[in-house]
Amino acid sequence: MANTDLKTLADRAVAEIGAAADEAALEAARVRYLGRKDGALAEFTKQIPALPAKERPAMGAAVNDAKRRIESALDERTGALRAAHLERELGAERQDMTLPPRRLRLGRVHPISQTIREVSRIFATLGFETVEGPEIESDYYNFEALNIPPGHPAREKWDTLWISNPLGDDPAHPLLGRTHTSPMQVRIMEKRRPPIRVVIPGRCYRYEATDAIRESIFFQYEGLAIDEKLTMSDLKGVLYAFARQVFGGDRRIRFRIDYFPFTEPSAEIAFSCFICEGRDPKCHTCGGDGWIEAAGCGMVHPDVLRRVGYDPTTYQGFAFGGGLERLCMLRTGAPDIRLFYQNDLRFLEQF
Ligand code: DAH
Repeated sequence: MANTDLKTLADRAVAEIGAAADEAALEAARVRYLGRKDGALAEFTKQIPALPAKERPAMGAAVNDAKRRIESALDERTGALRAAHLERELGAERQDMTLPPRRLRLGRVHPISQTIREVSRIFATLGFETVEGPEIESDYYNFEALNIPPGHPAREKWDTLWISNPLGDDPAHPLLGRTHTSPMQVRIMEKRRPPIRVVIPGRCYRYEATDAIRESIFFQYEGLAIDEKLTMSDLKGVLYAFARQVFGGDRRIRFRIDYFPFTEPSAEIAFSCFICEGRDPKCHTCGGDGWIEAAGCGMVHPDVLRRVGYDPTTYQGFAFGGGLERLCMLRTGAPDIRLFYQNDLRFLEQF
């Protein structure tokens, strides 16, 4: 065995590697020549110890040299094969720049969110700030602070979804999905001093069978104003301005006496029908009587004021609360509240 044999071997390996058609052929060549046990170079290495001492260094150097040549041939061919592969793929993937672009599908704001923004915008023009509050409430804020103690018959008006606390239930402080946005009246009054003018849009929950006008998860908007010398005519003026901005034109407004434990007096407010003005007995929007019931309202009950530390002889206020989907349905003609939450794009894309 001589260095010339080694050189011939390396020449052959380099030629073979240069001609390898794919990575599998390259791997086979690598094993054949550089394999630790049976590779061709290993045969030379094994014989070095048997050589006369003075020949060993030259032989070792020759083996190393052959190994380096074969390794760099392998590297080079691997790179070349990969580049060729990429080139082929790019070639196959040629783009036709004359094709029209794919249509971009833009999202849009959900109709209920649009309504929330609209309500906030309108009340902002009347000096009301929009605030939000917790959807999971305590019995205290949802009921007791609003003059609805346990056992009060008015509780039946708000079918309640009680919530068990994952950290452990406290029977003295039960949790619920708020059945209305009115608890925020109390939270705001506790935190601030008058004058207060806020509107609170938000999700509410009721244990209720759904139909075209009822959902167990729905939105309300709540309004609260507290100041010195506020009267029911201020309440009327604000809701009148709101009605005109939402439904346009010369809305008339109707107050009828109602009962809510947290307002005294309480009223139900209705707007004159913006579709038929009361002239069509078969009107789908108002049901033919010419009025659209929109919200509950009233003057904040003195006991509610006292409970948050306000002196009712100094401060008075009014409050109102109504269904937000109902506003949106009236404005858009959407026939069924459930449509808002079924995520059917054929419906939602119309807004
Ligand atoms: N929270 C009441 C409900 O869900 C509506 C309501 C009535 C809100 C009178 C008020 C109010 O602020 O003053 O039925």
